[in-house]
Amino acid sequence: MSYASEITIPWKLERKAPPFEGNDIKYPEGLVRHILENYSNEGDKVLDPFAGLGTTLFVAEEMKRVPYGIEAEEEKYEWVAAQLENWMNLINSDAAFLEEYNFPKMDVVITSPPYMPKHHKWNPLYGRDPDYAGYNEYLNRMEFIFSKISNIMKKQTPLFVQVDNLLHQTKSKSIFTPLVHDIINCLKPNFIQTNKIKVNWGNPKKDYPYTNLLVFKKR
Ligand SMILES: C[S@@+](CC[C@H](N)C(=O)[O-])C[C@H]1O[C@@H](n2cnc3c(N)ncnc32)[C@H](O)[C@@H]1O
Repeated sequence: MSYASEITIPWKLERKAPPFEGNDIKYPEGLVRHILENYSNEGDKVLDPFAGLGTTLFVAEEMKRVPYGIEAEEEKYEWVAAQLENWMNLINSDAAFLEEYNFPKMDVVITSPPYMPKHHKWNPLYGRDPDYAGYNEYLNRMEFIFSKISNIMKKQTPLFVQVDNLLHQTKSKSIFTPLVHDIINCLKPNFIQTNKIKVNWGNPKKDYPYTNLLVFKKR
């Protein structure tokens, strides 16, 4: 497969987020549409292991692909499942337990993991459980979850991960989290990175002109 190193997608969120969640966790539907148009076929099985507000799943269904997903938060799960034809393919669980659900081998995986700034204590992958606090725990768990994901991918299945570096700025200091680099490292034991696509948002928000779309294949 060949990938452009830079693409432009309009920053447009088509499906409004529910009242209990902000739009800011979503990526634009256009990003998923671009990936599926170029790197999948009708009938393909598409997985998002961090399904969130279901953007990957809704677009996959719209484009006659078969969506599968895991979402840890019950409220989001219920909201997405209620609007999905293939609701039985969405599981309210932790992606670390992916293998328990007997999913078939996937043709495409598209996801954006929960982000953690390195100075935060809570770990979003364990639902902020204080027993698993800290950035290192987060990265270790990320590596474990992606190892499980690789087990339900075919040899040629591409994995697309949308991720950004994080900058926390206060009046006195700024803290940079190199999340793109750190996620690439977490995936190294099980994946080969084939590309890094710079996705420019066509009508950019001033503070968010582009994102990174990493592409991997199984080792
Ligand atoms: C960045 S959001 C994904 C947003 C999604 N791409 C969209 O457009 O709606 C990450 C999601 O992962 C979920 N999550 C966090 N830890 C998880 C885990 N261990 N397993 C599955 N989902 C998890 C969060 O609740 C959140 O909804």
